[in-house]
Amino acid sequence: EVHNAGGALRVLVTKNLPGDRWLKVLTAAGCRVEVCSDPDTILSNEKIKKLIGDKCDGVIGQLTEDWSTELFGALKAAGGRAYSNYAVGYNNVVVPEATKVGIPVGNTPGVLTETTAELALALTFAAARRVVEGDTFMRGGQYKGWLPTLFVGNLLQNKVVGIVGAGRIGTAYARMMVEGHKCDLVYYDPYPNKFLEEYVSDYGKLLASKGERAVTVKRCETVEEVLRSADVVSLHCNLDDNTRHLMNAERLGMMKPDAVLVNAARGPCIDEAALVAHLKANPNFRAGLDVFEDEPAMKPGLEECENAVIVPHIASATLWTRAGMATLAACNVAATLSGHPVWNKPDV
Ligand code: DGY
Repeated sequence: EVHNAGGALRVLVTKNLPGDRWLKVLTAAGCRVEVCSDPDTILSNEKIKKLIGDKCDGVIGQLTEDWSTELFGALKAAGGRAYSNYAVGYNNVVVPEATKVGIPVGNTPGVLTETTAELALALTFAAARRVVEGDTFMRGGQYKGWLPTLFVGNLLQNKVVGIVGAGRIGTAYARMMVEGHKCDLVYYDPYPNKFLEEYVSDYGKLLASKGERAVTVKRCETVEEVLRSADVVSLHCNLDDNTRHLMNAERLGMMKPDAVLVNAARGPCIDEAALVAHLKANPNFRAGLDVFEDEPAMKPGLEECENAVIVPHIASATLWTRAGMATLAACNVAATLSGHPVWNKPDV
């Protein structure tokens, strides 16, 4: 689909985006916008190179695409000067390769912070309270009446929540768990998060002033310390060489046997085969997963684990957020093509 056919700058959008502001931003910047309508969910490099063609000034691409030497080379050869990922995560983009050929890279932080944290929260409670198992049971016509032992799960109020990665999304999730459920917080991040620490300790003081138990916060020196002490661990780190298979068999074994592990970050942060084995060996251990190691595939056996709640990478999937991400991606490309610095760039 082509919009503003007379625009002088050709911008390729590899998947249609929600909302209409993004298109207004690009057309106001003089772009002819071509939205790919290929029915394949994931576009191959060959297809993307064809779409780039001989002249392409900028691209808004997807996290399912492999933006590395080959695609940045093709974009550069077509006169490209701008690329934005339609995501905050950019593990699918080799930023140094883009930098090498002079193409600034943008991403879409901020608008998806609370939305992603809310889904992590939904997974946390769906897993802890066995919501999906209960749903399947009902639909299967198996409910014969209330029983004291039916789908007993874990109460999370006043428990310890652990986060790995205390950036924007980790902070939002931690606040939801601390404020909403009076959890103590332990976190691992290479950098101290002073805001979060003060926030939790101020909230603790407020609770104490009302005669309630004060919540606490601790920054741990190691991921292992978080894993050993938390009742729920939620991953909010970037995927890089330090975090690939961060959750391996050994670290899974350090978690409490009835803990909940949540991942709305990136699939490969967990060794998924090890997780399947752990879920099978520990029926009271639970996982809430939005992302998978070999997305869209799941490792064999995961689908059999009733103690895992699994959803298809939808953490940012609200209309407001997805439209906001589109506007940011358009601003990234429009700013760059108009000779300004990229609007939002990854913190690399
Ligand atoms: C991201 O933005 O990185 C999410 O995975 C999709 O919104």
